[in-house]
Amino acid sequence: MTVQLQSRPARGSVPIHLTTSTTWDDHARTLAPEVRRWLVATGFAGRANSHALVPGPAGTLASVWAGVRDVADPWLLAALPKALPTGDYHLGGDTGLAGDEPAAALSWQLGSYAFDLYKARPREPARLTLAATAGSRRSLLLAEVIAATRDLVNTPAEHMGPAELAAAVRLAARPHKAKVREIVGDELLAKGFPAVHAVGRAAARAPRLVELTWGRARDPLVAIVGKGVCFDSGGLDIKSADGMRLMKKDMGGAAHALALAQLVMALALPVRLQLLIPAVENAIAGNAFRPGDIFKTRAGLQIEVGNTDAEGRVILCDALAYAAEGQPDLVIDLATLTGAARTALGPALPALFCRDLGMARDIVDLGLAQRDPLWHMPLWRDYHPLIESEIADIVNTGKGPMAGAITAALFLEDFVPAKLPWLHIDLFAWNDSAKPGRPVGGEAQALRTLLAWLERRYAK
Ligand code: BES
Ligand code: ZN
Ligand code: ZN
Repeated sequence: MTVQLQSRPARGSVPIHLTTSTTWDDHARTLAPEVRRWLVATGFAGRANSHALVPGPAGTLASVWAGVRDVADPWLLAALPKALPTGDYHLGGDTGLAGDEPAAALSWQLGSYAFDLYKARPREPARLTLAATAGSRRSLLLAEVIAATRDLVNTPAEHMGPAELAAAVRLAARPHKAKVREIVGDELLAKGFPAVHAVGRAAARAPRLVELTWGRARDPLVAIVGKGVCFDSGGLDIKSADGMRLMKKDMGGAAHALALAQLVMALALPVRLQLLIPAVENAIAGNAFRPGDIFKTRAGLQIEVGNTDAEGRVILCDALAYAAEGQPDLVIDLATLTGAARTALGPALPALFCRDLGMARDIVDLGLAQRDPLWHMPLWRDYHPLIESEIADIVNTGKGPMAGAITAALFLEDFVPAKLPWLHIDLFAWNDSAKPGRPVGGEAQALRTLLAWLERRYAK
């Protein structure tokens, strides 16, 4: 941890003073003339994500001035841990703005994130001492779970197959004494998960359904389902080289589902949890499922395969049907389901589908307030004919290229009983470009928002 929670800063710790481009002139006026002259001379003006090192008379580092957007920005200090000289720092609230402690903890901890499984980091990040408040503790939990989500997504498919994804679930279950069960390979057929089996059967690594359960019988059941396609080649409808390049991240929904489950358990929300991860590799071999094939799913619906690259909805339909059997109070699924959701909303806005418009709007509002946004898209019933099949109940691709994120969501909807509250989140799980605290690579999206919403819904 590069954030240390203790009441007193370490010896020799350097204070960081916060300012914004609008408050900077006022702050500058309170400084000793030589400090003000130094900051002016080095061009510091309080701009967000800029900082200045201030020397003391003996040539030591005496303080840091950091420009921020505003003090509650969840990415407040994210640029600093890798930019400041290695050493100890604390927030110097005596001059400048007082930093929001939870935002400081989250941004600093994520600002020091690096995926260093294969390559050592160039240097140690700087350390920050903060008071151990409930808010800063919660932020460090969030940061830890977000980092774990990124690590799972960043790990190449070679080292993150269905078995490794299941192992990650087991590891997360242990501290909370949650139960984990796996249905592996041909057992999927015997236990009634034919669609998961069909998608995963061609891979050298056996497909599986991973189920984690936790909580007390008397609490409401929340089912969280995550798309765990450890690599998506597209299957026989093979992807282009460009389209395949990032498909190690196609288990991003599963990583998010696991992260949300970890948060629910760590914060002991008064719910009973069922985490379901269908984990497969969409591979090509002689026994691969084919375009035109028809499979009976767990729910009894016959699905026709229009395209083997629309595999996510196929594995999810069995998991959703299974989740519904437990008559939960709520089902959430998370999936890197469609390129069309990215075409519509871009990489930074996950698409939220929900039959209850009031619920959807609450979540969108909360996402904006948390600065962890997602955006509402419609389950537009009039488009359902686009996924209707001549010879089966339903087909896994739309007729034509339009409304691809919606037709994928409508496909899933056929497997979720009408009365069951359900959130479907189609997300990217990836940063295409780097921002402070958010390097290029795997990303957790909408996680803080979903946690805050669950806490509100299930407040004790
Ligand atoms: N995993 C992809 C969706 C995806 C692609 C998400 C790129 C994020 C970035 C999914 O399995 C897929 O290939 N979907 C197809 C569906 C189509 C064949 C109907 C798509 O979106 O093109
Ligand atoms: Zn695909
Ligand atoms: Zn996929």
